[in-house]
Amino acid sequence: MSFHNKVIWITGASSGIGKALAQELSYQNALLIISARDKNSLEMVRELCKNPKNVWIIPLHLEKHSTFSEITQRAINVFGRIDILVNNGGISQRSLATETQISVDKKIMEINYTGTVALTKTILPHFIDNQKGQIVVTTSIVGLIGSPLRSTYAASKHALHGFFDSLRAELHDYNIAVTLICPGFVSTNISMNALTGDGTSQQKMDVATANGISPERFAKLMAKAIDSKKEEAYIAGFKEKLGVYVKRWFPRVFSVMIRKLSVT
Ligand SMILES: NC(=O)c1ccc[n+]([C@@H]2O[C@H](COP(=O)([O-])OP(=O)(O)OC[C@H]3O[C@@H](n4cnc5c(N)ncnc54)[C@H](OP(=O)(O)O)[C@@H]3O)[C@@H](O)[C@H]2O)c1
Repeated sequence: MSFHNKVIWITGASSGIGKALAQELSYQNALLIISARDKNSLEMVRELCKNPKNVWIIPLHLEKHSTFSEITQRAINVFGRIDILVNNGGISQRSLATETQISVDKKIMEINYTGTVALTKTILPHFIDNQKGQIVVTTSIVGLIGSPLRSTYAASKHALHGFFDSLRAELHDYNIAVTLICPGFVSTNISMNALTGDGTSQQKMDVATANGISPERFAKLMAKAIDSKKEEAYIAGFKEKLGVYVKRWFPRVFSVMIRKLSVT
């Protein structure tokens, strides 16, 4: 793979997929900028990387969109350029739509959708000036299908597909690639941190998440998909991938399947 001396900015790098990706890319000699809210965890991630001197920490809160211009400029200044932005930070949901306060719906959209889009827009002039760049977005298999207890989470991830598929077409002539990574279940803290209907976090590890792909294995597959500039990669178990194809070709069968399946 060709990440040697590539400057890669990863959001959501304090745990789970982002943390494992930072470690994987550092072992492939990338120059990294890692972001999330929790600075202490980011410092621990940096220490786990192959060469901590090549890893810079820039705290970022995905709901604070007005801070993005200044933060992006700082990120560009670290190594003089950014080659790849990995929009990975996000939050999930575990609540019925009828029991979810509208403030919680808005928060999930602000973090997962608007935060990702706003950060991407601040870096785009840099990529356009350089006539190259790659935008990676961690969406979800739930960005392609809807499943119970995740109505707004699924909406936020579907919205990312709509936005970034359009953006890919607009950016083609600028030599800027867009890669959508769609994870199935990955064994991270995502379900612990998932919001319930009143906005508190679930604080429970779901069985399916616990049994998911390890973040380390996921990060290796994600790095391959980024390297080959895939437009869309499903990195998931057999059942999750099957769901995507059944939904596409037999939507009514999928409707019956999804309401009967256990999805926690
Ligand atoms: N694990 C799965 O099964 C799975 C499946 C499909 C998609 N995904 C997607 O994969 C991505 C990574 O999730 P994960 O599984 O690695 O879960 P995770 O361990 O909970 O990590 C989530 C990351 O997002 C960051 N984050 C959350 N809210 C944020 C905010 N308001 N501002 C800035 N950063 C924020 C967290 O950092 P701080 O708390 O330090 O800010 C953390 O680094 C997410 O986009 C998620 O939707 C995961």
